[in-house]
Amino acid sequence: AGRCVVAVDGPSGSGKSTVSRRLAAGIGARYLDTGAMYRAITWAVLRSGVDLTDAEAVAKVAQEVDLRIGTDPQGYGVTADGVSVDAEIRGPEVTQAVSAVAAVPAVRALLVARQQEMIANAGRIVVEGRDIGAVVAPDADLKVYLTASEAARAARRSAEDATDAVVTAADLARRDHLDSTRKTSPLQQASDAVVLDTTELGIDEVVQRLHALLTERG
Ligand code: C5P
Repeated sequence: AGRCVVAVDGPSGSGKSTVSRRLAAGIGARYLDTGAMYRAITWAVLRSGVDLTDAEAVAKVAQEVDLRIGTDPQGYGVTADGVSVDAEIRGPEVTQAVSAVAAVPAVRALLVARQQEMIANAGRIVVEGRDIGAVVAPDADLKVYLTASEAARAARRSAEDATDAVVTAADLARRDHLDSTRKTSPLQQASDAVVLDTTELGIDEVVQRLHALLTERG
């Protein structure tokens, strides 16, 4: 099978991760969770104790940390300076701080370059994030933008994290706002993206539609 890059963007709780992993497994592609990379950098920033509002200090931590991430859709690990951080990067401290770290232009430049290198090496890969179709992989073979109502997204997230739905809804709204309004590559729908609303569509249906689109496009 030849090269194939699928970009999946959308807000938190839109079903991106589940859809992207299933699609990747189904087409025999690698899978890259770029949110996990921003989360791992955030973990390192929190560990270092630098001020989150000090962009220069945050960028320095990002440059110095040895970040590694797997690309197996059946299960990938993330390490920072050799420490496995899979659980920590999903915790409330990282979730609370990640949008601020992801808004630092130097952090984005660093991670976008790493992501582009990984995409080039993989050849066949499904990449999920916020800026994949617009910035990281503008030449992707298929660009997907997943949405869902705020209520549906909050319900999914609190089910995943086993956290309180009201707290989750507030946190989602806050993160969406920060991610959509930041200056450097905000969450955006690429003009050539296929938009799918997953509020009513089941995950299987979404994956099937994407399969069909890929087949159509050869
Ligand atoms: O997808 P996930 O919720 O794990 O992403 C965590 C955070 O990382 C997002 O809220 C956003 O601030 C940032 N992010 C980003 N660009 C990406 C992926 C994630 O800014 N491509």
